[in-house]
Amino acid sequence: MDGNFNENDISRVVEADRAHIWHHLSQHKQYETVDPRIIVEGKGMRVWDQKGKEHIDAVSGGVWTVNVGYGRERIADAVRDQLVKLNFFAGSAGSIPGSNFAEMLIDKMPGMSRVYYASSGSEANEKGFKMVRQIAHKRYGGKKHKILYRDRDYHGGTIGTMAAGGQDERNAQYGPFPEGFIRVPHCLEYRKHEQDGAPVENYGVWAADQIEAVILREGPDTVGALCLEPVTAGGGVITPPDGYWGRVQEICKKYDILLHIDEVVCGVGRTGTWFGYQQYGVKPDMVTMAKGVASGYAAISCLVTTEEVFNMFKEDTADHMSYFRDISTFGGCTAGPAAGIENMRIIEEENLLQNTTDMGHYMLDQLNALADKHAVIGQVRGKGLFLGAELVADRDTRDPVAEALVGQVVGDCMAQGTIIGATNRSLPGKNNTLCFSPALIATKDDIDQIVASVDGALGRVFG
Ligand SMILES: Cc1ncc(COP(=O)(O)O)c(C=O)c1O
Repeated sequence: MDGNFNENDISRVVEADRAHIWHHLSQHKQYETVDPRIIVEGKGMRVWDQKGKEHIDAVSGGVWTVNVGYGRERIADAVRDQLVKLNFFAGSAGSIPGSNFAEMLIDKMPGMSRVYYASSGSEANEKGFKMVRQIAHKRYGGKKHKILYRDRDYHGGTIGTMAAGGQDERNAQYGPFPEGFIRVPHCLEYRKHEQDGAPVENYGVWAADQIEAVILREGPDTVGALCLEPVTAGGGVITPPDGYWGRVQEICKKYDILLHIDEVVCGVGRTGTWFGYQQYGVKPDMVTMAKGVASGYAAISCLVTTEEVFNMFKEDTADHMSYFRDISTFGGCTAGPAAGIENMRIIEEENLLQNTTDMGHYMLDQLNALADKHAVIGQVRGKGLFLGAELVADRDTRDPVAEALVGQVVGDCMAQGTIIGATNRSLPGKNNTLCFSPALIATKDDIDQIVASVDGALGRVFG
């Protein structure tokens, strides 16, 4: 830390926080007896709290966001320069960084062509849902309006995106939700013993076929889109089984169903390719992205579509209702695309996609080595620097460990100065996966430090 804060300043900040801040995802009773954590500064892979304690951040800002690491002056400079030139104009007009960033993005997404700007992942997903609904009205008399989503996936915290949320514990107490959102089964092979009829061989194709079964049950002429994460994030870091995506693509084509890929976590490098879907040869109709797009240096999200989807909203000029009648005020903030441009340049210039692939393999190996030592690790999985370790009470039955014990592991790591994540209050009885998503700049030394902390924590919590 640069020492800009003195003791008095910081205790005033803590008291103001205690008095006025409503922290996300937090039960506040604890702050009557312990101080809320304030993160004061960040550099590279590390952050410092109000006590000056250094932490290595294995989750890129807590929620897989700060892809290029903290303290990037060139992003801050680009944002500053843009803000004094033009900070905002409504998205009904264009902007210089908006156009330039869209061109860069589309260059990384062959087959896609149009960028719609918004300000959060939830919002981008909502825009996608609205497009599906409007297409249903324009083309199918409103009938083909249903949106399929998958068990354990997450698409945001708004009421609309929670209607498409596959995490029952996260959704509990927030209903009723809008209609027309239909759940399909998850594709977590490690838990196939809990799915009726799951085969020993070719699980991936079977899991995709379960989506077809839902489509046939609902009626293909009622289903407009399928919304999926390429690798499920908060639902337990679920990498798709072999054969899954190819079959999903076939099913969408067969029934004329739009494929909406939620890249809010996987997008912009996290898995070692620009987008997670590119790992699996998928051809989406719509792609949403947020967190890593500007690594948290500015709030930006994008909904990217094919020209075919775009054209459905353009051609019918005789109908005054035919275009996408939607706006996101802060989608017109220029800081987002200005930061996005620098963020992407950094990833290219520092060869961070390759680093993510290499370090992702290294971290997977190190976590697997931990699994040899700690029987509580049932499975390690992930892609690139996006990894999870599922903790089980018994390797044979695969019964999950209690969420409280997972919380103790996270707390022990924090005490050691290592910030890791875990599935939490999302899936009833299944919040048992440790989550890792270090910045794409991570080195072997960083990973060794993270894995050593987890090793120590598992030893202390589980013996
Ligand atoms: C896969 C996925 N989609 C969407 C969202 C929602 O993004 P936001 O919190 O920016 O609204 C998240 C947030 O964690 C996410 O993990």
